[in-house]
Amino acid sequence: MYETAKGIVTNLVSLIDQFGYVLNGARAYYSNRSQPPVLATMIVDIFNQTGDLNLVRRSLPALLKENHFWNSGIHKVTIQDAQGSNHSLSRYYAMWNKPRPESSTIDSKTASVLPNICEKRELYRELASAAESGWDFSSRWMSNGSDLTTTSTTSILPVDLNAFLLKMELDIAFLANLVGESSTASHFTEAAQNRQKAINCIFWNAEMGQWLDYWLTNSDTSEDIYKWEDLHQNKKSFASNFVPLWTENSCSDNNITTQKVVQSLMSSGLLQPAGIAMTLSNTGQQWDFPNGWPPLQHIIIEGLLRSGLEEARTLAKDIAIRWLRTNYVTYKKTGAMHEKYDVTKCGAYGGGGEYMSQTGFGWSNGVVLALLEEFGWPEDLKIDC
Ligand SMILES: *[C@@H]1O[C@H](CO)[C@@H](O)[C@H](O)[C@H]1NC(C)=O
Ligand SMILES: *[C@@H]1O[C@H](CO)[C@@H](O)[C@H](O)[C@H]1NC(C)=O
Ligand SMILES: *[C@@H]1O[C@H](CO)[C@@H](O)[C@H](O)[C@H]1NC(C)=O
Ligand SMILES: *[C@@H]1O[C@H](CO)[C@@H](O)[C@H](O)[C@H]1NC(C)=O
Ligand SMILES: *[C@@H]1O[C@H](CO)[C@@H](O)[C@H](O)[C@H]1NC(C)=O
Repeated sequence: MYETAKGIVTNLVSLIDQFGYVLNGARAYYSNRSQPPVLATMIVDIFNQTGDLNLVRRSLPALLKENHFWNSGIHKVTIQDAQGSNHSLSRYYAMWNKPRPESSTIDSKTASVLPNICEKRELYRELASAAESGWDFSSRWMSNGSDLTTTSTTSILPVDLNAFLLKMELDIAFLANLVGESSTASHFTEAAQNRQKAINCIFWNAEMGQWLDYWLTNSDTSEDIYKWEDLHQNKKSFASNFVPLWTENSCSDNNITTQKVVQSLMSSGLLQPAGIAMTLSNTGQQWDFPNGWPPLQHIIIEGLLRSGLEEARTLAKDIAIRWLRTNYVTYKKTGAMHEKYDVTKCGAYGGGGEYMSQTGFGWSNGVVLALLEEFGWPEDLKIDC
């Protein structure tokens, strides 16, 4: 469906032309927040299949704009590492301080326990920023996982956002080279190297073998520069801690890192009978335990494959089989694909959150197709639990 794929990309590019970023959704009331930036990777994938250079030429200016959006103003944070080097990383930050229009009643009710309008406005921004991240809602963004009013999305440097931006920078360099814009290409190659360094310095935790979200606190700032502190890495295991596997890693000790990360994923508790859980906290929020969502299964599986390590491939296939089996068995049982699954048992779809679990889902279908394309119908995939 190359024409459909190009049509989707062309629509997203036109949103950037008009607003400067990809909206959270193509509706007027989503125009004050973005979404995880994966447009560049979509263009590279389409180019890879079609060789369409016109699409590349048409999209490149929009990608530069989108990159600027994530690397300027309130989205950009400068942080100084333990050795005194400064790094730039990015965060989610909705340009919105009112209830989300699509969930106005619920947000007003959530904020009603807060004493004054200033605190309410701050919370509305944090909730909209969590929606911008895609993880709405999750203990990942909360200082107290039982209390949604402690959502603090804008105080966190997220591992996954910065891994997506690293991929965007590598992709822009690749696309710019294709159309002969070599100075743009070298600028973005350097930007990617800097972000890779920042990801390794600020997020990587060798003891855990994971990249960890980083909490910004006011006490660390001087002149708009945050000072890195070990204790502000969030030591909890989230599926997003493994997203950097998905971006090329140019480190020379790549294999050692990957071996560590594979071990860490296997012992983290996130790997469950039917796939990878988003977090280890069962809060009733839909981006928490016991739910697994399709894009994270896919990103982690692809990342493991990309390393080329035998043990990583074995784990990738193992996760794929768990996921395919539960998708298939649940489909047989309910007659539908589902947006999320309960990964603690085969054959159960997910729950929690603020709305009824949805069926039919594009990303569920897409991930199943991608896994079948990668692995075929695995011999050891039994079609019952
Ligand atoms: C498409 O991607 C594959 C795998 O990364 C690569 O080997 C191939 O050269 C790419 N094709 C094009 C046209 O870029
Ligand atoms: C980092 O930024 C601070 C504040 O601007 C500056 O004082 C310091 O010299 C910078 N560090 C390096 C290594 O450039
Ligand atoms: C939403 O964004 C527009 C355009 O940038 C801005 O004028 C408006 O104040 C924003 N709305 C809120 C509630 O922040
Ligand atoms: C976390 O929130 C819950 C629910 O509001 C509350 O009962 C609990 O005391 C809070 N925990 C901490 C450590 O503040
Ligand atoms: C990493 O492992 C792969 C597969 O085992 C091997 O081909 C490659 O040479 C290794 N790379 C390094 C830098 O050791």
